[in-house]
Amino acid sequence: MSDMFDLDAPTLSRYVMKNTKDPELVILLNSLATSFKLIASAVGRAGVAKLYGLAGEVNSTGDDQKKLDVMSNDMMINALIHSGVCCVLVSEENEDPIIVPADKAGKFCVAFDPLDGSSNIDCNVSVGTIFSVYERKDGSVNDLLRSGADCICAGYCCYSSAVELVFTFNGGTVEGFCLDPTIGEFIHTRIDMKFPADGGKRIYSCNEGNYIHWDKPIQDAVSVFKSGVDGEPYTARYVGSMVADIHRTLLYGGVYIYPADKKSPKGKLRCLYEGIPMALIIEQAGGIASTGYFQGKIGRVAELVPDAIHCKCPIIMGGPRDVGVIYDCYKKAG
Ligand code: AHG
Ligand code: MN
Ligand code: MN
Ligand code: MN
Repeated sequence: MSDMFDLDAPTLSRYVMKNTKDPELVILLNSLATSFKLIASAVGRAGVAKLYGLAGEVNSTGDDQKKLDVMSNDMMINALIHSGVCCVLVSEENEDPIIVPADKAGKFCVAFDPLDGSSNIDCNVSVGTIFSVYERKDGSVNDLLRSGADCICAGYCCYSSAVELVFTFNGGTVEGFCLDPTIGEFIHTRIDMKFPADGGKRIYSCNEGNYIHWDKPIQDAVSVFKSGVDGEPYTARYVGSMVADIHRTLLYGGVYIYPADKKSPKGKLRCLYEGIPMALIIEQAGGIASTGYFQGKIGRVAELVPDAIHCKCPIIMGGPRDVGVIYDCYKKAG
């Protein structure tokens, strides 16, 4: 009838209702989607609503909190508590876990980074939200200190030229949804997301300002990227918002690294609400999510068991071809 309107919009709710038999999971994703719409609105109005700048506090990993970090956190906490399906919440912005009052408690435990890349807010560069979901065992924080194998759902929302939600049910496909602001709904726009089959673009993505702190194999790998593989040098791209850097890596190909180094022996990114959820997305899209050499071996990020809610982990995530360049450098180093 019309080219302008989809009369049968494939919404997020429709996808979730079709792909889980668990009504509480439908409620949870609906509440998460509400918080992403609120955050997107606040990010979009940051200039006019005077939301740039610092909130004045420092969080548990030493980051200066921005006003929008605090607001986004409150939006997520409110949406999740009132969903009635959560019992324990862990946020980058809260030192301690939040135990949901019994009258509102349900079976899900959710860890989240409410606003990722918040150093980019004040200059309007892409930011995001990252989340992972576990099921209650004893209702304590231990329910979240588990490896990625126990995570039932993980994903991110990217606030940029478009607002895009990407998530996966553990063991399932990776699916992408774009917010259609004209109807306020996330629409299923990317089906069964996979790394480009041919490896995609040769891109390396890292904060190269840390070069002097890196171990030799990481320095060597970045030198290989710059001098070229098969005569073709890599392109450098680094947004400095993990969500944006991972989203680009998934869509275009390449490798994103934030390794352990002499200054940060466990890396910078947080295991529970940055490392593990992104690792599940990357692996289920056909990529590799490695710690690099860490704690005596080269392991998967998804198999780490966090020993504290704000613990950190090193990250090497990307397509097999490009992560392979880094593995070769580890092999050469012996
Ligand atoms: P957050 O803004 O949630 O604290 O996360 C910051 C993280 C991540 O988004 C980004 O990839 C990385 O820190 C950037 O770190 P550098 O500024 O050290 O490059
Ligand atoms: Mn932070
Ligand atoms: Mn972050
Ligand atoms: Mn954050």
